[in-house]
Amino acid sequence: MENYKFSSMILEDVPAVVAIERQNCASPWNTLCFYSCLNNSIQAYSIKHKISNEVVGYFIFEIIVDEVNIYNLGITHELHGQGLGTNVMHKIISLSKAAEASKIFLEVNVNNYLAKKLYAKFGFKEISIRKDYYNTPNGYQNASLMCLAL
Ligand SMILES: CC(C)(COP(=O)(O)OP(=O)(O)OC[C@H]1O[C@@H](n2cnc3c(N)ncnc32)[C@H](O)[C@@H]1OP(=O)(O)O)[C@@H](O)C(=O)NCCC(=O)NCCS
Repeated sequence: MENYKFSSMILEDVPAVVAIERQNCASPWNTLCFYSCLNNSIQAYSIKHKISNEVVGYFIFEIIVDEVNIYNLGITHELHGQGLGTNVMHKIISLSKAAEASKIFLEVNVNNYLAKKLYAKFGFKEISIRKDYYNTPNGYQNASLMCLAL
């Protein structure tokens, strides 16, 4: 992680972010979805190599009064399993605590074993199933709505 930094997502980052999103997701966000996160209360971060500035990941969340919603999180395939996702979760949790939030919510595909493992490590619990939440080339898939009480 010492080679990477978190920085506010800027317009120029979006093409690289969309490429990672397409690499990772069966029902990816499109370019407009990412653009729309840049101009409002949503917090969008890029993860960049400290020297080359290459975008290797991103995370997007919003703090609404005392609740936090994580909307998206992705790391480029080549760097999976090297601790970046864990660092992102530490960052979101610490910003959420600083804002005196009491809960963090997120949705994850019930079949997304790696992401569920990451969230479980931080104590997220499934509180509900959202049926047919994701429209993928393999059909509709359910989301697990997860919550972490801070
Ligand atoms: C989910 C994701 C963000 C995790 O990012 P990451 O940088 O790989 O995460 P980390 O390296 O910090 O690993 C976090 C945990 O995931 C699990 N994990 C990661 N890679 C793994 C692998 N190859 N095999 C088994 N478990 C693995 C481990 O439990 C790990 O924790 P541990 O190392 O303490 O045991 C990443 O896999 C990703 O971008 N996935 C595609 C997009 C996605 O699913 N986003 C979430 C949408 S809700």
